[in-house]
Amino acid sequence: MSDYDFDVIVIGAGPGGYVAAIRAAQLGLKTACVESRETLGGTCLNVGCIPSKAMLHASEYYDKAVNGEMAKMGIKATVELDLDTMQGQRKDAVKGLTGGIEYLFKKNKVEWLKGHGAFTGKDTIDVAGKSYRAKNIVIATGSSVTPLPGVEIDEKVVVSSTGALEFTKVPKHLVVIGGGVIGLELGSVWKRLGAKVTVVEFLDQLLPGMDGEIRKEAAKIFKKQGMELKLGTKVTGVTSKGGKATVTVEPAAGGAAETLEADAVLVSIGRRPNTDGLALERAGLTVNKRGQIEIGHDFDTATPGIWAIGDVVPGPMLAHKAEDEGIAVAENIAGLTGIVNHDVIPGVVYTMPEIAGVGLTEEQAKERGDVKVGKFPMLANSRAKTNHEPEGFVKVIADAKTDKVLGVHIIASVAGTMIAQAAQAMEFGATSEDIAYTCHAHPTHSEAIKEAAMAVTGKPIHI
Ligand code: FAD
Ligand code: NAI
Repeated sequence: MSDYDFDVIVIGAGPGGYVAAIRAAQLGLKTACVESRETLGGTCLNVGCIPSKAMLHASEYYDKAVNGEMAKMGIKATVELDLDTMQGQRKDAVKGLTGGIEYLFKKNKVEWLKGHGAFTGKDTIDVAGKSYRAKNIVIATGSSVTPLPGVEIDEKVVVSSTGALEFTKVPKHLVVIGGGVIGLELGSVWKRLGAKVTVVEFLDQLLPGMDGEIRKEAAKIFKKQGMELKLGTKVTGVTSKGGKATVTVEPAAGGAAETLEADAVLVSIGRRPNTDGLALERAGLTVNKRGQIEIGHDFDTATPGIWAIGDVVPGPMLAHKAEDEGIAVAENIAGLTGIVNHDVIPGVVYTMPEIAGVGLTEEQAKERGDVKVGKFPMLANSRAKTNHEPEGFVKVIADAKTDKVLGVHIIASVAGTMIAQAAQAMEFGATSEDIAYTCHAHPTHSEAIKEAAMAVTGKPIHI
């Protein structure tokens, strides 16, 4: 292999990087992965997807026991919160899965280069004082929390998502800045465990980028659950003293200021790509206005032999998008054809009910041409109704002429699981009729997708 140390060095062992490294090794390439964290798995496994879902899952059980949902089914219990144990199972979940990646690295002979990686040339990087040369370098350095100017995150009282996963007691009043995915998921966790939760969102609706009707329905449901929503409101300052914080807010359009006293403040106004300390200039690379590394169709950057994937490149910041890009980039490096269909990337918010979407929103679809829309309420779905989960609906958007499915949006208890079939149908170029004539098992929540597809032509059965 001439004077190269590796065929491929991947910088970052998140879902993008570790998957790219494993696939590259599976394809016979000599591969290393640089990671500065103590454990592999990146944001997702350590402080993101996995620990947040561990807390969402556990807090949902607690909530159902406390709020009378279980009693409705004849299960009466005196319930007590043991937050230490709940946090313990979160840590166990993270430990198990991050250790699993280390095992997979060993199994596939991916070498873990421990430390911070920085370019010293177009094909060389430095890690912990040692220089490595590779034919291909994949940048998969992910993202970190976007700070709010003038607001200092101490991870105790004023926290990012990382601190909000680790509270050792339930805050009496949690103010969440940003009504996006993190704010609603982690706001839900602490609301269920007994906190008063106030969400301050700059825009006039929650969850930017999602279908308009879904956003409105979500706000209605969260309000009903007892979350206080301050929409169209901006934060002008946060001060913290003696374990308490004061948040000053005012209407986004201007107006009288108001202060909110809080025991904890979660800053969740988005995430930004990690490129600091990479010395990209030594690799001949720059970042765009949003701090992202621009890539071509094959995940190639402006410098031949350097590739980039995941949160550090444009597109939704999602683990499954990063993973698919990881597989595709490794296949491209190996001379195969690695492709990701960026038009069909599902997104899921793991609240209760869950909120999921794939493809175009109704607003986007209408901008492109005539559409037909079919909707079906979960209230009319036998399984959801039987399970006491009547909230939400399924919406199927199809092209008015060709009937091709352009987008599917769901609010339902298991929307995250249901959306997979919509993504698969869209990947196969399905029409709404294809979905309507596919036999769905009864009684399942997924039948609501079939009925929404039937509603596109006006003929659902159960409404
Ligand atoms: P990352 O996972 O961020 O990994 C990058 C890794 O690179 C990090 O470990 C970092 O330490 C390392 N690194 C960076 N620079 C260097 C360097 N110079 N040298 C060495 N190592 C370096 N997405 C979902 O799809 N579903 C979810 O449910 C979900 N939940 C989330 C919950 C939270 C609270 C958060 C914060 C995020 C969540 N996400 C979720 C988003 C998801 O975590 C990211 O989209 C995903 O982790 C991106 O993967 P990545 O490989 O691009 O980067
Ligand atoms: P986000 O982009 O989802 O939401 C940020 C929200 O903050 C937006 O609604 C925005 O309008 C608002 N905002 C911005 N500036 C503000 C200000 N000054 N005052 C008040 N509101 C303000 O970002 P979030 O929630 O931080 O999550 C970051 C990323 O992490 C997401 O984009 C998502 O890709 C990923 N993620 C995915 C999850 C999932 O797939 N279930 C779960 C958690 C995170």
